[in-house]
Amino acid sequence: MKCTRCKQKAVVALPSHNAGFCPSCYLEYFKRQVEKAIKAQNMFSFEDKILVAISGGKDSLALTLQLKELGYNVSGLHIDLNIPESSAEVRKTVEDFCTLQSIPLYVLEMKKEGLSIPEVKKRLSRPICSACGQIKRYHFNLFAKEKGFTVLATGHNLDDEVARLFANTLRWDIDYLSDQGPVLKEEQGFVKKVKPLYRLTEFETANYAFLKGINYSYKPCPFSKGASFTFYKKLIASLEQEQPGRKLNFYETFLKQGQKPFKLAASRKNSPLNACSRCGYPTSGEICGVCRIKELLAC
Ligand code: AMP
Ligand code: FES
Ligand code: ZN
Repeated sequence: MKCTRCKQKAVVALPSHNAGFCPSCYLEYFKRQVEKAIKAQNMFSFEDKILVAISGGKDSLALTLQLKELGYNVSGLHIDLNIPESSAEVRKTVEDFCTLQSIPLYVLEMKKEGLSIPEVKKRLSRPICSACGQIKRYHFNLFAKEKGFTVLATGHNLDDEVARLFANTLRWDIDYLSDQGPVLKEEQGFVKKVKPLYRLTEFETANYAFLKGINYSYKPCPFSKGASFTFYKKLIASLEQEQPGRKLNFYETFLKQGQKPFKLAASRKNSPLNACSRCGYPTSGEICGVCRIKELLAC
């Protein structure tokens, strides 16, 4: 197969775009997809102070490098979850990457916050992954606000987004569907959140990471039974195999036509948030979810 742009030997085939690319044209393709996402969704400008949540996996590292190379003002935030089997290695991957790329990095240690994930897991009756996600989002937001970042970027890719959209659609979950998308605007005490990799698949970010020589962590979380939405991702992969391009089309059509009605329905249904009486975080109850977890751990 020949590269669609320069006719050299292609190394990456992308049936969804009816294209194939040599290494340098692939990197150009990747960059353009990120630029297109930023522009189409009005994510941020060169004046913004962007905080990238870096987990140590390929997606968030690829995102950080691409944004830096595009000339954006980026810093990283890593949440050290204190999981014995994985956290130290993952943290080192992030620290080494940021040192190599001269990107300022902040690390928040959940142990110091009284929220060591193995401890939370012991005391909580609900699945640890949802509590862990809640704890991470809480700290992303508080930290970004505290330090004056104007945008928080995460490494969610097209596969993550489509699998989540599919799961939410199967349940017709108005609240979750209204909150789904590559941009969540700044409101009610929450920082603006963006997902600049939403047009790129897991395969595409893996290729970018490989071609850029990014050393990323493969260490899975010992508490999660595989990646999130694994079953839906498999279903969607077979759909994509039969109908290349379906995945991106499904997501983009949702953004064009489906998102607005759900946002409207949710805004009619939900009341405004108030500040948590303990920590000030926006919440619908009196005490926020993370303060409730802390309370549970304290007794
Ligand atoms: P996940 O839900 O694990 O697929 O992660 C989705 C995104 O959340 C990643 O691409 C990162 O941007 C962010 N993220 C997840 N875990 C962490 C972490 N421990 N520290 C910083 N960011 C994280
Ligand atoms: Fe949070 Fe596994 S429970 S990363
Ligand atoms: Zn609170």
